Amino acid sequence: MTTADITRPVFDLPEPLLRIGGARVGAADGATYTSTDPATGEVVAEIAAAGQEDVDAAVRSARHQFEHGEWSRTSGPERGKALTRLAALIEADAETLAALEAVEMGKLYRDSVGGDIPCAAEAFRHFAGWADKISGSAMSLPNFGPQQRFGYTVRQPLGVVAAITPWNNPALIAAWKLAPALAAGNTAVVKPAEDASLSTLRLAELASEAGIPDGVLNVVTGLGPVAGAALAGHGGVDKVSFTGSPTVGQSIRSFAGESFRKLVLELGGKAPQLIFEDADLEAAMPWISMGNFYHQGQVCAAGTRVLAHESVIDQVVDGLVAAAESAVVGDPFDDRSTMGTIVNAKQLDRIDGYIDSGISEGAQLICGGKRERGAGFYAQPTVFRGTNDLTIARDEIFGPVATVIGFRTTEEAVRIANDTRYGLNAMVYSQNISRVHSVVEKLRVGTVWVNGWGVPDPALPWGGRAGSGIGRELGRSGLDGDTEEKTVHIGFDSM
Ligand code: NAI
Ligand code: MG
Repeated sequence: MTTADITRPVFDLPEPLLRIGGARVGAADGATYTSTDPATGEVVAEIAAAGQEDVDAAVRSARHQFEHGEWSRTSGPERGKALTRLAALIEADAETLAALEAVEMGKLYRDSVGGDIPCAAEAFRHFAGWADKISGSAMSLPNFGPQQRFGYTVRQPLGVVAAITPWNNPALIAAWKLAPALAAGNTAVVKPAEDASLSTLRLAELASEAGIPDGVLNVVTGLGPVAGAALAGHGGVDKVSFTGSPTVGQSIRSFAGESFRKLVLELGGKAPQLIFEDADLEAAMPWISMGNFYHQGQVCAAGTRVLAHESVIDQVVDGLVAAAESAVVGDPFDDRSTMGTIVNAKQLDRIDGYIDSGISEGAQLICGGKRERGAGFYAQPTVFRGTNDLTIARDEIFGPVATVIGFRTTEEAVRIANDTRYGLNAMVYSQNISRVHSVVEKLRVGTVWVNGWGVPDPALPWGGRAGSGIGRELGRSGLDGDTEEKTVHIGFDSM
């Protein structure tokens, strides 16, 4: 838990300025916000805080590039090549991008350099491959009176896509939103989170190096209620793609609804991990633990409702406790750390509040539960045993807090799994293929991982049901959401 004996890598910060049409500029009113290192409390950067005027300028720049610039008219293969170059530049720059994320929000440098950043590059590479394959369909139609008819559809870019991203996987989630949008020929304005803006600014620099024209990728750093709200409500934006909290998602939905623009909301989850008596527990336990403690639980797909069959629940609890007790919570840059910091003081207080609620509502605290006092915002991995009606089992905590809940039958497991306001994802552990299929069919979620847990794949859609949001990103469905399909009926005379 000390940072004294760690030598942190030396890396360059991107200029902490807005990126509008290729120019790097301060906010019109000169406003800035402070980004701090959650491990040390030190200031990392004073970053330009965009206001309405700046957001207007960024949207104008994206619109101008879309209407009059080359990007939307560039051929698919050429856009694909540019995005492939960007993927390679991201990989080459992984150490800097990862260091920026570790220093601003406390993710383990190792997890970022080996996980988030290569996955961000892969997202660009994946959608680069789609850039020359965006197509509609064609068919002969029945005659209409004396006329013969032929019909076809074309998929055209939407225009300006606004991406509002969270702090937990900043470069990766920006890549998920930008890669398909740019592959389809759209231009974009990104508003990264206040707690982790620098990797997105660096991404924009790399996009320029890759030859992506000015104005295609604009970045407005700034405060959520100011810059985020201005962007989400902007009349010049054709689609808003947001990942973050349900409260903000609701407010964005109300703006976006008025104007009929396209909307994707990814609002987190409270995923169940269903562990049946026929699971291969030895193989499953590392995944189950990772689903709770990876990135200190600050993951929308985290599986913090651990539903275990009563015949294996003690083993599951023991496995989680072993993982919690062997975790090394420490400086994100220290090779020995297996968990880094919580993003900020507010989030750590929130986690503490949930732990207190677990205790006061009668859950059994098995291990952890304390915050580590000191300069950094560190939380202990925590395991509770309890029931699905506890606040800790109902709310997304976004911290390393597992709640283990017992069940007796498959039906009961599915009922508890679906008894939540969320519906992003679930994990199922069983060696019985028939049970796996029947359970998967009944889970009311967007994604199921069977016998594992991990990161969404760019080739497959990602998104939630119910309180976890609307729409899909990634996969073919995500790409379709970045285009508008136009139907054309051609009438011609019969010969
Ligand atoms: P947040 O929803 O406030 O932040 C997400 C993004 O929205 C940031 O870029 C922020 O600047 C922006 N934003 C904030 N207010 C806005 C507004 N009025 N209009 C437009 N944009 C706005 O999330 P926060 O406060 O950082 O985290 C709180 C909780 O939200 C977490 O504890 C977690 O439960 C959940 N969350 C879920 C995420 C997910 O992956 N679905 C990611 C981040 C947070
Ligand atoms: Mg910070």
